[in-house]
Amino acid sequence: MGNTHKHNFAAIILAAGKGTRMRSALPKVLHRVAGQPMIAHVLAALSPLAPEKTIVVTAPGMKAVEEEALRKAKNCRFVIQEEQKGTGHAVACAQKELVDYHDTVLVLYGDIPLITPHTLHHLIHATESADIVVLGMHLANPAGYGRLVLDGNGQLEEIVEDRDANAEQRKITLCNSGIMAVRGKLLFPLLSRLTTTNAAGEYYLTDIVSLADADGLHCHVAAADATEVMGINSRDQLAQAEYFMQQRLRSAALEQGATLIDPMTVYFHVDTQLGQDVTIYPQVVFGPGVTVEEGAEIRSFSHIEGAHIHKNAVIGPFARIRPGSIVGEGAHVGNFVELKKTDLGKGAKANHLSYVGDATVGEGANIGAGTITCNYDGKAKHQTVIGAGAFIGSNSSLVAPVTIGDGAIIGAGSVVTQDVDADALAIARPQQINKPGKASEFRQRKKSS
Ligand code: UD1
Ligand code: MG
Repeated sequence: MGNTHKHNFAAIILAAGKGTRMRSALPKVLHRVAGQPMIAHVLAALSPLAPEKTIVVTAPGMKAVEEEALRKAKNCRFVIQEEQKGTGHAVACAQKELVDYHDTVLVLYGDIPLITPHTLHHLIHATESADIVVLGMHLANPAGYGRLVLDGNGQLEEIVEDRDANAEQRKITLCNSGIMAVRGKLLFPLLSRLTTTNAAGEYYLTDIVSLADADGLHCHVAAADATEVMGINSRDQLAQAEYFMQQRLRSAALEQGATLIDPMTVYFHVDTQLGQDVTIYPQVVFGPGVTVEEGAEIRSFSHIEGAHIHKNAVIGPFARIRPGSIVGEGAHVGNFVELKKTDLGKGAKANHLSYVGDATVGEGANIGAGTITCNYDGKAKHQTVIGAGAFIGSNSSLVAPVTIGDGAIIGAGSVVTQDVDADALAIARPQQINKPGKASEFRQRKKSS
C-alpha cells in the first residue's frame, strides 16, 4: 500500500436496512459470499487498516449480526437504529460512539462485500486534501444510484439520488458507491442540518455534500472499480458477487503457485490456503477451514471442509473430507471415501468406498475397500484407533470404541468388536463351509420342486 504512514480513522458500517429484496428471514449482511457473511468481508477489508474505532449500525432484532461482526472484529461497537429513516439518520445514530472524534470517519455499507483494503486506504488518505471524499464509479447503467455532480474544476458539488434527479442529471454515469470519508469534526454538524424534503422522505447521507459545498468546503471523488463497490440488494446480485469473489480467489491461488486445471470449476472458501505446486482438478469445492500443503493433488468432484491436507497427499476423485480431518503426508484418499474427524497418518491409504470417522489411522496403514468405522451407537460417538502399518481387509466393520494394534491384519468381511493386539491376525466372520458336489444336487432339487 503506497502510503505507509498511519492515518487515524474511525469506521461506521451501515447494516440496519431490511434487505427486503433478498426475500429472506436472514438479515441481508449475513448472506454469504465465498462462505463468509458480507458484514465479515467488510470488516476483513478494514482490518489491515487498523481503524481506531469500528461502529456497526444495526436494526432491532439483529443480535446475529452483532455476533458475526464480533467474531471478525473483537472491538467492534454497535448502535441500534430504532427506525430506518435513511442513511444520514443511520450515520447520525453512531454519534454517541464518536463524541469528540476529530480524525477521519469512514462510512461504509455492510452490503458491499468486494471492497478491498487497498481502495479504502486510498480513500482515507485522500481526506488529507479534501473535507469529504466520496468513492464513485462509472456505470453503463446507472439507474437507481445516486449521481455525482461535478463542477467545472472536477470538484464534487452535489449527490443527487436517482429518484430526485432531473433528466439531465440522470444521464450522469458517475455514481455514488455509498462509501465516503469525512473529516470527523464536520460530519455530525453537517448531519444535524439534513432534512427529509426529498422523494423518499428520508435523511440522505448524500446531502451532506451540497451542504459542505455551500459552506466552501472541498468535496472530492475517488474512483473505484465498479465490481469492487457493487452493493448487494438481491439474490441475483449476491450470485454476481460470488462470481467475482471466486474469480479473485482463483487468481490468487494461481498467483501463489497452485495449478488449477479448470479454474472456473473450482470453488474456494475465502479462507482456503494452498501451498505451492498443489494441483486441483476440475470440479472441486472447498468449505471453510482448509489448508492444503505443497505438492498435494485434489482430484475431481471432491468436497473438502475443515481439514488439513499434508504434503503430497492425493485426494479423490469423489472424496469427501469433513471437518476435523488431517490427511498425512503422501496419504491417499480415493473415490467414495468419507473422512470425518479422522487423522490419517503419513502414507496411509483409504482408496475405495469407505467411511472413516472419529478415527486415528497410523502411518502406512491400509484401509481396504468398503471399510466402515461404526462410530455411532445411536447416542454417542466413539473412537477407532488403527495402528501404524495395520491392514484392514475389505468390507470390514470396526465397531467403536475399538483399537487395532500396529501391524495387525483384519480378515476381509470382519465385524470387529474387540481390540486386536499389535501384529495379530483377526478374522471375525462366520467360518466358510464347503460341501463337495452339493451344487448340482441343489440345482436338481430346485428343478423338481
Ligand atoms: C444509497 C445512496 C446512493 C448510492 C447507493 C449505492 C443514500 C441516500 N443513497 O442508496 O447514493 O448510489 O446507496 O448502493 O445514501 N441503511 C441503514 N439505515 C437506514 C437506511 C439504510 O442502515 O435507515 C443502510 C442499509 O442497510 C444499506 C445502506 O445503508 O447497507 C444503503 O441503504 P439503501 O437503502 O440500500 O440505499 P440506496 O437507496 O441503495
Ligand atoms: Mg442499496
